Amino acid sequence: MDITLNIENLKGFVEKKDFDNLFPQVQKAHEDLVNKTGKGSEFTGWIDLPSRIEDSFLDELDQLGQQVRADSDCLISIGIGGSYAGVHASLEFLISEQKLPVYYAGHNLSSGYLYHLLESLKDKRITVVVISKSGTTTEPALAFRIIKKFMEERYSAEELKKRIICITDPEKGALLTIAQNHGYRIFPINSDVGGRFSVLTPAGLVPLAIAGIDVKALVNGARKAQEYCSQLDLDNNIAYRYAAARYLLNQQGKEIEVLSTFYQRLSLVEEWWKQLFGESEGKDGKGLFPTSLSFTADLHSMGQLLQEGQRNMFETFLLSENSGHEMIIPEDSENLDNFNCVAGDDLDSVNKKAYQATSMAHYEGGVPNMTITISRFDANCLGQLYYFFEKAVAIKGYLLGVNPFNQPGVEAYKKKMFALLGRS
Ligand code: PA5
Repeated sequence: MDITLNIENLKGFVEKKDFDNLFPQVQKAHEDLVNKTGKGSEFTGWIDLPSRIEDSFLDELDQLGQQVRADSDCLISIGIGGSYAGVHASLEFLISEQKLPVYYAGHNLSSGYLYHLLESLKDKRITVVVISKSGTTTEPALAFRIIKKFMEERYSAEELKKRIICITDPEKGALLTIAQNHGYRIFPINSDVGGRFSVLTPAGLVPLAIAGIDVKALVNGARKAQEYCSQLDLDNNIAYRYAAARYLLNQQGKEIEVLSTFYQRLSLVEEWWKQLFGESEGKDGKGLFPTSLSFTADLHSMGQLLQEGQRNMFETFLLSENSGHEMIIPEDSENLDNFNCVAGDDLDSVNKKAYQATSMAHYEGGVPNMTITISRFDANCLGQLYYFFEKAVAIKGYLLGVNPFNQPGVEAYKKKMFALLGRS
């Protein structure tokens, strides 16, 4: 694996004996997961998904991407929650590989946002991808209604068959019916994979392939992690170690996990992580509250609370060994800012010192912390990271005794909103 987990700064909070004592429970969680005897097992298709994806399908996506890029200036990706977060996170992470601009819609109900988006794209050649597993979610449904009209005013019905791609449940839902009635291209989302675990299904892969990302490398990374994370071993399987550490800290009364990164390119992976962890654990009155910070900016705002606020949290740092591009700090003959001490160094070496200082200061301030480090910013590493987090949250959910694969609470606001809208 090209990911490491450092738990040195858990000393005094979680010790080796705690991991050893928890092992039988981890073993039970592992067996329930792999034997599909645990809660929500009908939605555990993500476990062996990477190895089930056919290479021929990835080639097909690559060809689709080339075709779309040949006659489009941009892509609009419509979706919310699991049908949005992974796409946006992947493209932020892989920003240097992106070949086509991608804009997002359907992840909010802001008319101003959609107005300005469509205004800015009115002279562009556009392809639209609509992603909705259920095919009935309000935000993407309304955005698609508006964008479909916008597209119909520009293109013939025949042309739209090429320019609108629907990714949805293969058997039911309004989006499927619309796509079938108009002859739009359809990609199915695996029925045994829930929305927040769908980043490696067509919901995540199709927009990325269109944007020019090497989806085969992404899936290969996930395949590597699938194999690695299948070991029932708390010393060598870092997904299980991370899950166990989170559970032990939670049992000690820690209520909040702060995922802190020092890399802009990881900031939307944090958003994806929040959905995955929040929706998977937060039920039956249980679950850590997952939140995230972007350092060093947030050290100048939330740093105070982390250092001296209520001691009800722990922190997980998310780093990359390689920052992607070097940025050498120049020598300055005047040296008025007194920073010639780092002249000639890469800015990332200062960033790494900021991390070391922060992790020490927070630990000494009573915030235990762990560090997840990826080797580099490429698709293979991202595929590994996605799978690592998916496996970790599944094990933690089973340790906690919840069903990590449902989200009954998400329905409550929808029912009330439909009543207010007069929608049946
Ligand atoms: O995790 C989930 O299931 C949700 O966050 C969904 O991804 C989100 O509500 C969007 O659902 P859909 O893809 O059905 O439109």
